[in-house]
Amino acid sequence: MIGIGIIGLGTVGIGAYKILREHRSLIYQRTGVDLDVVKIADVDIERDRGIPLEKGLLTQNALEVINDDRVDIVVELMGGVHTAFDYIAQALKKKKWVVTANKALLAERGDEIFRLVEEEGCEIGFEASVCGGIPVIRAIRDGLVGNRIDYILGILNGTCNYILTRMTEEGISFDAILKDAQRLGFAESDPTLDIEGIDAAHKLCILIRLAFHYPLQMKDIVTEGISKIESIDIEFAKEFGYTIKLLGVGKEENGLIDARVVPAMIPVRHPMSTVNGVFNAVYVVGDKVGPTLYYGRGAGSDPTGSAVVSDIVDMACRLIAKSPRTALSLHKGNRRMRTDEESSFPYYMRFTVEDRPGVLSRISGILAEYRISISSVIQKGREEVGHVPLVIVTHEAIEKDLKRAKEEISKLPFVKGESVHIRIEEGSS
Ligand code: HSE
Repeated sequence: MIGIGIIGLGTVGIGAYKILREHRSLIYQRTGVDLDVVKIADVDIERDRGIPLEKGLLTQNALEVINDDRVDIVVELMGGVHTAFDYIAQALKKKKWVVTANKALLAERGDEIFRLVEEEGCEIGFEASVCGGIPVIRAIRDGLVGNRIDYILGILNGTCNYILTRMTEEGISFDAILKDAQRLGFAESDPTLDIEGIDAAHKLCILIRLAFHYPLQMKDIVTEGISKIESIDIEFAKEFGYTIKLLGVGKEENGLIDARVVPAMIPVRHPMSTVNGVFNAVYVVGDKVGPTLYYGRGAGSDPTGSAVVSDIVDMACRLIAKSPRTALSLHKGNRRMRTDEESSFPYYMRFTVEDRPGVLSRISGILAEYRISISSVIQKGREEVGHVPLVIVTHEAIEKDLKRAKEEISKLPFVKGESVHIRIEEGSS
């Protein structure tokens, strides 16, 4: 029997606990491991969670979970960074193995945690930290272990994907859909972490460390959210054959690592463009296997609980054998992050301009000065107010040059309002 202690009985804790109860015998039949939840800590031990909780199981004191001799695996599902870190550190020092769903903790203090895991000869499982129910950590770590991973493309945040999907399908503004999503419970009342791309960056940080074994830090990830995306750009994207998604991109090429979470256009023919609503997906390209795709629910009680339980079961088998997995080793080697000057992509640009002769040639002249080559142009018909959208798709351009050109063009007297640029991600390594 393996004793399980859970810290945090919120949405994910309840999901994991329910699965461990409901499927205890199923898991035993499949693996020969009997998992017994012996202690659960949560600040709120009164609330009716709609699940049977035996007397004595709940405590408000997380240390009672960590120090309980019956607990072999401590499952941290409380969230937050520093207190969660302290509890995990204490559990590891007591030689308890740990499962966590805490992406912010792993992205921000992962180095310290992995060092401790190694020093204490323990193991840490974090399947639930990236994309809820999708077993992408296991896929990269085990399923693709024979590959050098070259490219990761992720739709890593369900809130953003839900908002962008509805903007695409219904043509409604970002603000209106965000309000509706909050009303329906699909977005947090403070949605900053989600819509500004930080939640997705936490997940990308974990994926890149795992896939490239590179000691990536959050500051290394170029992070932009979706709050500035306008319906008009989604409509133009369709005309050019693209869909706008918040993409987490990780790439390793010739010793240079790219890490970005940005709203980007992806071809409608790419499988990632069909990932809609609250669903998440990760597209991983290995040098031997080629492209692979993992899809599913990235949040929610049962899907995330399912990922937590998969870690517990996987770990329990090695715990019985007293044979922990080798800790994740990170090393830079000769590699470094790609700089802005070294990054070039095709871009979509939109300017609001007066509709008169000479405008396009001035703009294309400035683009040429910055060595930016135009691939196509769309200008919509005249409007009463006299300004029209002018949309340009470029060939590959260096981002710094593109931003400078955009700034210069935006100052021209016939250009009105804010100009827009959105990266185009063709979606292959
Ligand atoms: N808030 C996240 C999302 C789920 O919207 O996808 C948890 O990571």
